[in-house]
Order: sequence, then structure tokens, then C-alpha cells
Amino acid sequence: MVDIRIIEVSPRDGLQNEALPVPTAQKLELIRGLVAAGIKEIEVSSFVSPKWIPQLGDIEDLWPMLSEGGLYSALVPNMKGLERAEGLGVERIAVFTAASDAFTLKNINMTVDQSLDIFRLIRAEHKGFMRGYVSTIFECPYAGLIEPKQVRKVVDQLFEIGVDEVSLGDTTGVGVPNEVRDLARELHGLDKQEIVWHFHDTRGTAIANVAAALELGYTAFDSSAAGLGGCPYAKGAGGNLATEDLVYFAHRMGLSSGIDLSALARASLSTLDCLGKLPSAKAQLAMLADE
Ligand code: HMG
Ligand code: MG
Repeated sequence: MVDIRIIEVSPRDGLQNEALPVPTAQKLELIRGLVAAGIKEIEVSSFVSPKWIPQLGDIEDLWPMLSEGGLYSALVPNMKGLERAEGLGVERIAVFTAASDAFTLKNINMTVDQSLDIFRLIRAEHKGFMRGYVSTIFECPYAGLIEPKQVRKVVDQLFEIGVDEVSLGDTTGVGVPNEVRDLARELHGLDKQEIVWHFHDTRGTAIANVAAALELGYTAFDSSAAGLGGCPYAKGAGGNLATEDLVYFAHRMGLSSGIDLSALARASLSTLDCLGKLPSAKAQLAMLADE
């Protein structure tokens, strides 16, 4: 048993936003490195339209190459996506909506209610694990500030549909600890084990938000190696919370994660190279400098 649960999203949330294509073999190397560093849960890609997100259009090639040893998942937006996932025997899927219609329309061409109707059909078909994302939990880049009760409404609808967990996305990385606390207050009565926080670090507030969530008793977080990430339909959605920063912070706080920070700091290097980027996540840089 570990004290904090980390769900790695770099191959999906990280690479979906990159201008340069990353070859399938490179993605595989990244995923293998993450597994070797001790990461168990990895969101590897999406069954979305390759016209909308060409960066992830190779999932049919990538999925069968994944090695044993990881709990792999992928995004599914609609029945067509589910059909593709089922064709590959994918057990863990994630559906995704938001607290704002304006965002879901840009992101998946549906209103929130339309997306929930589709997720109900997906749940009826899919027997395996199903996560539900709620994006724009604090602010929508198109509709502005979001009230916690708007988020609670969508979270309740997702659980009513039968998702196994909900991931709460600060899509544009605007949130601060007060907002985490306000939203957590609105989530009263829900099982904290079934809530995951998904922070982007656009403004450097992600780790402060993790600290706030930990103090409130939450222990599950999405993060991305090297802080890769963003969302193509959310202007300004900078990198995700870097897994290295999260692991460093957790370990120094006395919490176990099951992850080897040294191996993790190296796992993304060849992918960064492929993207023409230098490492920039703080704990990754510090770890590499120490070695
Ligand atoms: P659409 O254009 O409305 O789809 O896209 P449609 O149903 O009208 O179909 C149009 C064509 O697309 C048809 O093909 C369909 O077969 C095909 P045609 O007849 O023209 O040849 N199509 C598909 N092909 C492959 N896979 C599919 C699929 N569905 C339809 N699943 C759709 C709707 C949802 C597909 C589109 O909007 C889409 O792919 N969006 C991508 C959204 C995305 O990946 N966004 C980024 C992830 S969300 C995120 O980053 C936030 C998160 O990290 C949390 C946070 O930070 O807040 C999760
Ligand atoms: Mg995200």
C-alpha cells in the first residue's frame, strides 16, 4: 500500500498538445520508462477523432505493444471511441466532460447534458473500470468563473451514471488552495477515495493545491512526467503538474508513492529530446543535477 496514488497522464495529456509528432516507438519508450520507475496507472492515449487530435491517432498501433505491468487507460468520448476501445480489449476507460457547456462544445462538440447522455450509453456497454473527468472546475476559458455547485452537479450525475471515480480538472491551471477548499466543501458526503485531483501548473499553483487537497484527506492525483501537457481546446492550458514535483513533494512530506524519483527524472528525457525541449520541471531538474 502506498500513501498517495498517482495517475500518470503524460502520454495522453502531455502529447495531445504537442506540435511535433512523437513516433509510436518513442511513446512506447516513455511508457516503459514510467513503468520501470514504479508508476502503475498510466493514461496512454485517446480514442478520439484523429482529425481533431492527430497526435494520438496511433493508439491502434500503440495499445497492442504495451507490456505487462501497468494499469493502462485511454479517453473515450463517444460510442465510436468505445467501439475502437472494445476492439482492442481495453479494460480501463475515461469519459470526459466539464462544468461548462462552452468548454465541452469546443472540446467534444456536445453540451454537458449531451455528453452525459452518451456516457450513460457507454456505461451500459462497458463492463470495465470507467473514470469520469470534469474539466474547468474553477474557471472556463470561454465562460469565466465556475461555481462549486456547478461542479458538484456534474460530479453527482457522473456517479449516478456509474463511473468508478471522478477526476476534477483545473484545465487552465488557474486555481489556488482557497478554491480547492471551497470546492471540497461542496463535495461533502462523497467518498474521497473516488475523487482524483487533476491540476495543471500553468501559474505555478499546482503543488500548493496538492498540499491543500492532502490536508483535506484526498490522496489521488493526476500528473505528467516532465510537466508535459495542456489541452488543445483550452487556450493557455500550460503543462500539467509535473509527476517529479509531486513525487518529490510527497516523499519529503513522508508519504510513500512507490515511485523511484531518479528513474522517473530520466524516463521522459528521450521524449523531450524528440520534442526539441529541455527538462523544465523543477524536481526533475534538481534530481538530474544531483546525479
Ligand atoms: P464530431 O466531429 O462532432 O463527431 O467530433 P461526429 O460524431 O460528428 O463524427 C464526425 C466524423 O468523426 C465521422 O467520420 C465519425 O466516424 C468520426 P466521417 O463519417 O466524417 O468519416 N468520429 C470518430 N473517429 C474516431 N474516433 C472517434 C470518433 N468519433 C467520431 N471517437 C469528437 C466529436 C468527440 C470525436 C471530437 O470532438 C473529438 O475527438 N474531440 C477530441 C477532444 C479531445 O481529445 N480533447 C482533449 C482531451 S480533454 C482534456 O484534455 C481535459 C482533461 O485533461 C482534464 C482537464 O485538464 O481538465 C481530460
Ligand atoms: Mg488535463
